[in-house]
Amino acid sequence: MSSETPSKTAKLTIGDTTIELPVLEGSEGEIAIDIRNLRNQTGAITYDPGFGNTGSCLSNITYLDGEKGILRYAGYPIEQLAEQSNFLEVSWLLIHQSLPTKQELAEFHREITYHTMVHEDLKRFFGSMPKTGHPMAICAATVGALSTFYQDVKYDDPEDQRWEAAVRLLAKMPTIAAYSYKHSKGQPFMYPQNDLSYPENIMHLMFATPCEPYEPDPVIARALDLLLILHADHEQNCSTSTVRTVGSSQANLFASVSAGISALWGPLHGGANQKVIEMLISIRDGDRSAKDFMNLAKDKSSGVRLMGFGHRVYKNYDPRARILKKSCDEVLARMGTKNPLLEIAKELEEIALNDEYFIERKLYPNVDFYSGIIYQALGIPIDMFTVFFALGRMPGWIAQWLEFHRDADARIMRPRQVYTGERERNYVPVDKR
Ligand code: SDX
Repeated sequence: MSSETPSKTAKLTIGDTTIELPVLEGSEGEIAIDIRNLRNQTGAITYDPGFGNTGSCLSNITYLDGEKGILRYAGYPIEQLAEQSNFLEVSWLLIHQSLPTKQELAEFHREITYHTMVHEDLKRFFGSMPKTGHPMAICAATVGALSTFYQDVKYDDPEDQRWEAAVRLLAKMPTIAAYSYKHSKGQPFMYPQNDLSYPENIMHLMFATPCEPYEPDPVIARALDLLLILHADHEQNCSTSTVRTVGSSQANLFASVSAGISALWGPLHGGANQKVIEMLISIRDGDRSAKDFMNLAKDKSSGVRLMGFGHRVYKNYDPRARILKKSCDEVLARMGTKNPLLEIAKELEEIALNDEYFIERKLYPNVDFYSGIIYQALGIPIDMFTVFFALGRMPGWIAQWLEFHRDADARIMRPRQVYTGERERNYVPVDKR
């Protein structure tokens, strides 16, 4: 993929130098000033901490419109995919940017099914880690260790070898995730079952034991499939940019995704889903009302944030949060359970959507605000929530890594900086300081 032919230009004047920079236009009308020759032409660089105004690539995978709250995977609206598709089909869509034929999907399902087991030696890897270790740390380490079992995966592999690595990763991630959970419980690891669907296998790996038959509940499997679809990709978010950055040095796919898992773990990113539930529990069990909590969240000095709210791109309701909020009611009703945390979440949302502080900053619920309620209803423990976010994001990371390596404009990521430290000075021996 190479840059679009520039249709417009932007004039930039620095001192007595005026230059014209090409302007690129994306397929949804987004425009970008191409500054690849800025430093050569002016000696100047740009400054954009957090890259909120900086495009790192051209991509055909996912489109977000933050103002309108739009999310599409290769043109297909998330609402339609959530309603009609399934996670493996969405994984294929993200990687190939087209929906699979019936035959392609059947072949893909077969490939995934026959790569779900991990090497028996890898199972011992878990035993070397503390049972109390956070499963995100264990998953990041274990995915990185996959490159010791598949040493033939290289950046410049032909497409089919990179595809092999992609299938292995997507197939083995549920097994690795479940083993991190089973290890923490001191329970035996279960083998994947080839007659189960992808989400059913996840439930089996997580909750089955060798002592009795385990039938995955189809309601839970369908709800889990929905959660995986909604988390599958989100263009150049922190963890995906990390996967691209590590891959840009020609590190292999496993090493790149291992770094992505670590980036996702942070509470400002995927780790927020765990923090949301902990926040709701603190309101439920503490002596602070939802209203009191919201006053703290608005007070910068409190260090308290309304977790699950706000987004770098969405300045409107996150379409995934809208779907998840509806799904919370449906799943709880189907499970015949109530969750007081959901009522507290809805109360916090109601307060926020009518409060000037949140309105003027365009802070709305994001994907993490309601997802934890469903994970809890599915019996998933709180410290596994972000691992389930990583399970969903796996095809997105893979698709973005593969796209990077097919991109004619792709280069190793190496941003510049503006130096603000000391000017040149001479060394002083320690006995003279
Ligand atoms: C994900 O990028 C992606 O696409 C991520 C993701 C994906 O699918 O990959 O969507 C998944 O990571 C969702 C976000 C999960 N994180 C949280 O829910 C943590 C809480 N939210 C934030 O900390 C914050 O909103 C971020 C990190 C999500 C966005 O941070 P930004 O864009 O850097 O915004 P900011 O921190 O500069 O906030 C702007 C203003 C500030 O106030 P002022 O300085 O302007 O007065 O809004 C305030 C912030 O203090 N603010 C909040 C707030 N979020 C922002 N105030 C209270 N509670 C919050 N949650």
